[in-house]
Amino acid sequence: MCGIVGYIGTKDAREIIINGLKRLEYRGYDSAGIALQNCENGDFNMYKDKGRVAHLESITDFSYSSCLGIGHTRWATHGVPNQENSHPQTSNTGRFFIVHNGVIDNYKELITSHLNDSVFSSETDTEVIAHLIERYSYTMSVNEAIRKTMSLLEGSYALAIIDTYNPYRLYACKNKSPLLIGVSDDGVIVASDVMACVGYSDRFVPLEDKTFVEIDGAKYHIRDIIGKEVVHKERPIDVDYFNIEKGEFSHFMLKEIMEQPAALRTIIGTYFNDDGSVRVNRNILDAIRTSDRLYIIAAGTSMNAGYVGKELFETLAEIPTEVHIASEFAYNMPLLSDNPLFIFISQSGETADLRAVLVNIKAKGYRSLTITNVKTSTLAREADHYVEIMAGPEIAVASTKAYTAQIAILSILAYGLESHRMDLRKELSKVAISIENIIDRRDYIEALVEEYLTKRNCFYIGRGIDYYGCLEASLKLKEISYIQTEGFAAGELKHGTIALIEEGTPVIAIISQRAIAKNTRSNLNEVKSRGAKTLVISTKSVHQSEDQIVVDDVYESFSPILTVIPAQFIAYYAALHRGYDIDKPRNLAKSVTVE
Ligand code: AGP
Ligand code: GLU
Repeated sequence: MCGIVGYIGTKDAREIIINGLKRLEYRGYDSAGIALQNCENGDFNMYKDKGRVAHLESITDFSYSSCLGIGHTRWATHGVPNQENSHPQTSNTGRFFIVHNGVIDNYKELITSHLNDSVFSSETDTEVIAHLIERYSYTMSVNEAIRKTMSLLEGSYALAIIDTYNPYRLYACKNKSPLLIGVSDDGVIVASDVMACVGYSDRFVPLEDKTFVEIDGAKYHIRDIIGKEVVHKERPIDVDYFNIEKGEFSHFMLKEIMEQPAALRTIIGTYFNDDGSVRVNRNILDAIRTSDRLYIIAAGTSMNAGYVGKELFETLAEIPTEVHIASEFAYNMPLLSDNPLFIFISQSGETADLRAVLVNIKAKGYRSLTITNVKTSTLAREADHYVEIMAGPEIAVASTKAYTAQIAILSILAYGLESHRMDLRKELSKVAISIENIIDRRDYIEALVEEYLTKRNCFYIGRGIDYYGCLEASLKLKEISYIQTEGFAAGELKHGTIALIEEGTPVIAIISQRAIAKNTRSNLNEVKSRGAKTLVISTKSVHQSEDQIVVDDVYESFSPILTVIPAQFIAYYAALHRGYDIDKPRNLAKSVTVE
């Protein structure tokens, strides 16, 4: 959600910042802005507006060179997206420029207690921070003024700050919202995501909560809130630049759907030994094995993968497993078992709702495991253990390859706990081939979308594991095509929701489980009799000749890993035909870093 890029050094700050902001676009935002120092005359200039980074680029003056700047993409939380509310925000006299990601919970109280006489030019909570820093800078050093301000702020913030009185410094600090610094011999970048640094920095340092960094271009100092130097480690940046480019594809989502077989093969190569046994850190398997109940905590697509994980842990390892919505669990914790293990599933590893739970359960002394695509992320760093899903960078807001990779990892963890007759490595290799077969039939799926998805609403129905698949299929469709879609337990439809079925309502059934295939088919007939236009995604062993999309059979407990592929294409083509921004759907953010 939103993004920060700042730079100080000998290279062109504007290029680094604008390119960095473009790389962070996938996170979701509504406005963009930049403040730059003109190295030729020392002046500072600010450009900002509602809209895309391309628009920001078009209103930015490129005629001078600049070695210091801060840029921002805003996902509005306080005040509508417009020019005044865009960042950078400035202090009372304009001395300080700041960009902020996050939410300041006590900004109203701070105005009353400290800034009663201030005049604000925006509706943002952010502007309060700029005013406070300036106020304290009258009586203390800038360094102290920022740390003093940090001590008053409640909520989440990643901040990059310029003091126009000292153009040889860039300041940054954070609490809860992600922020890191990218380091090279030419200068230092401050960014919310390592993507912004790829190609410009060779090392990076993730910043801890409540730390503050002062950068003079060649050197940086990280301190805690009371000014004590913090021990930190520089890590190499090993993201491949080409992985974050679209290449020949029209959309990242299409590229990422197509990358699923390769991602699965990477997972197989990483997490299996030659003899087919699982290669996962023994401590992780022991942590799962010795717990009496697993609590999967996640949001959105990762939560939908978590439901499949529940099925896998319960069927393959017989460990009771619960799946919880992170934002609910954080403030409404159920009674826990005696020896729980918390499993956080998150593509980005930065989702604030999950982090709130992690902080909470760590304080209570419970153990945790994060399953993530970003091994350097906050949730990976802060949990006791982490497993990387190895899907490669996922840029499209709609998650595709992370979902299938998460299910693959969950199956490997569950499988690794017991000995089985089934050969999971072989099974996953078969899945990769079967996905390729579906990819080859995508034109046919596109034609089905034109024929079937003509209304403004749609239902996915299924039972058991297929119901879990329906939850993901419907999330995919609604988030990018804006067709109002519900994933429904097929048997539950007749208890109320069937009232919504009318002539031509599309109802898509997912049927992969032998034991309940008949039941789902009866539910399908019920809606058909009431005018629904039905479409079936089934597996070979349960298919009927009239089913439109038939996929290969796979191990039943993870069939969504395959039935989701047609659903991803259905969503993609439905959005494409409606002319929507597929990779950056409205109102959404890739990395949801506010609660
Ligand atoms: C996926 O298509 C969604 N955009 C969204 O639901 C996402 O899965 C959710 O925000 C969780 O993100 P995470 O996996 O990075 O934690
Ligand atoms: N709360 C701030 C605002 O609404 C920052 C939002 C963001 O993280 O982009 O301006």
